Amino acid sequence: MSETAKLNIQGNETELPLIVGTENEVGIDISKLRGATGAVTLDFGYKNTGSTTSAITYLDGEKGILRHRGYSIEELAEKAEFLEIAYLLIHGELPTKEEYTKWDNEIRRHTLVNGDIQNIFDAWPTGSHPMGQLIAMISSLSSFYPESLNPNSGEEAKMRTITRLLAKMPTICAMISKNRLGHPLIYPQNNLNYVENYLNMTFKHVTEDYVLDPILVRAMNKLMILHADHEQNCSASTVRLVGSSHANLYASVSAGVAALWGPLHGGANQKVIEMLEAIQADGGDAQKYIDKAKDKNDPFRLMGFGHRVYKNFDPRAKIIKKSADEVLEKLGVNDPTLAIAKKLEEAALSDPYFVERKLFPNVDFYSGIIYRAMGFPVEMFTVLFALGRLPGWIAQWKEMMEDKQPIGRPRQIYTGPVTRDFVPIDERG
Ligand code: CMC
Repeated sequence: MSETAKLNIQGNETELPLIVGTENEVGIDISKLRGATGAVTLDFGYKNTGSTTSAITYLDGEKGILRHRGYSIEELAEKAEFLEIAYLLIHGELPTKEEYTKWDNEIRRHTLVNGDIQNIFDAWPTGSHPMGQLIAMISSLSSFYPESLNPNSGEEAKMRTITRLLAKMPTICAMISKNRLGHPLIYPQNNLNYVENYLNMTFKHVTEDYVLDPILVRAMNKLMILHADHEQNCSASTVRLVGSSHANLYASVSAGVAALWGPLHGGANQKVIEMLEAIQADGGDAQKYIDKAKDKNDPFRLMGFGHRVYKNFDPRAKIIKKSADEVLEKLGVNDPTLAIAKKLEEAALSDPYFVERKLFPNVDFYSGIIYRAMGFPVEMFTVLFALGRLPGWIAQWKEMMEDKQPIGRPRQIYTGPVTRDFVPIDERG
C-alpha cells in the first residue's frame, strides 16, 4: 500500500502520510494540511475523523468486534473481575496476582469520602437528577484533594488521584441513591470487593441485615465490564478534550459524565425504559412506535437503537440480552417490558427502514431491564453506566497525558457576515 495519500486542492497537489494501526486501520495524517495548503477538513460529528491514536480499545463496527488491549469483550465479561479490567485499561496489561492484590487493597483503603461531601447533598432540592449530582460530586473531589489540581505533579500523585477517584465513585453513587430516598448512608465496608461494596452501600438499610445475592453481584460485575470503555465516544472524547487543557482528572471526568448524560449517549438507558413503559401503557402496540420512529415528521426515535460505529450488531447488547433473560429468570422477576422490548426488536429488525440504515439494539436497549430487576430506580441507570465507564475515562485521560498531546482545539469554517461597520443604536433601522 502507498505510504501517502495525494490531495489535489484547486490544482495544488499535496502528499499526506498514512498512519496504519495494528489492526490495519488506515488514517490520513492531516496534521500538516493547513500549513501546506491553507485548507482545513470539515467533518460534522467527527464521523470520519480520528482524534487520536490509542492502544486501549479496538472496535470494528462492521464485524461487531470490541476488544480491550487485545482481549475480546465476550471473554472479559465472562471471566474477569471489574477491577481487573480497570487495571487492564489503565495500566495496559492484566495484573498478576500480586499486582491485583496491591491494586485492590489500595482502592479499598480509599473508599471513604470526606464527611463534608454530605453538606453538598443537603443543599440540593429534593428530586434533583442523580446525573447532575454525580457531575458536581466528582468535580468537588478536586476541592477535597487540591494536590490533584496540577495533573503534571508526578507519577505517584497521578496514581493517587486515579485511585481515589476509582475508590470513591461507588461511595458517591450510593450516596446519591440514599439521599434520593432520604435514608441514612451506609458506609463502605472494605472487606467487600468493589462491586459487592457498591451494592451493599446501595441496598442495605441501617436497620436491617443485608445479604448480598451472588446473582446480583455477578450481573453487576458483568454489566460494569461491558460498559468499561468504548474508545473515542462522546464522553471519552470530552474527557480527553477537557483534560488536554491540563484541567485536573476530577474536572475532566466530571465533564465526561455530563456528556454521558445526554439521551443520545448513556442517557439512552433511562429513556429506553421510559419508552417501553409508555408503549406498555399505550396498549403494547410495538408497530405503532416503529411507525413513529420511521416518520420523519415525528421527533420520536427508537431509544436503544442505532449506533455511530456498530453497523451490524453491538456485541455488548448481545451479551446483555442473554443476561437479561438469565437474571430475570433467576430473580423470578416477570417484567412485561422485556416482552415489549423483544417485540420491538423483532419488528424493527425485519423492517426495511431499520435494515437499510443498519439500526440494531445497542448496549442501552436491554441494560435498563436488568437494572430495574435488580432494584435500581430508572433515574439511576445512567449513573450505573458512569460507574462502569470510569476506568475507560481514566485510561483515555492517562494515555492522552502520557502521550503529551496538545490542547484540543478544532478549527471551523466561518459562515457569518463579512466585515461591516458598527451602527450606533439610534441609527439602526
Ligand atoms: N430510531 C429511528 N431512526 C434512527 C435511529 C433511531 N434510534 N437512529 C438513527 N436513525 C436514523 C436517522 O434518522 C438517520 O436516518 P436518515 O438517514 O433517513 O436521515 C439514520 O438512521 C442515521 O442516523 P444518524 O442519526 O445520522 O446516526 P448517528 O451515527 O449520527 O447517531 C445515534 C447514532 C446512536 C445517536 C442514533 O442512532 C440514536 O439517536 N439512537 C437512539 C439513542 C441511543 O440509543 N443512544 C445510545 C447509543 S449506544 C450507547 C452509547 O455508547 O452511548
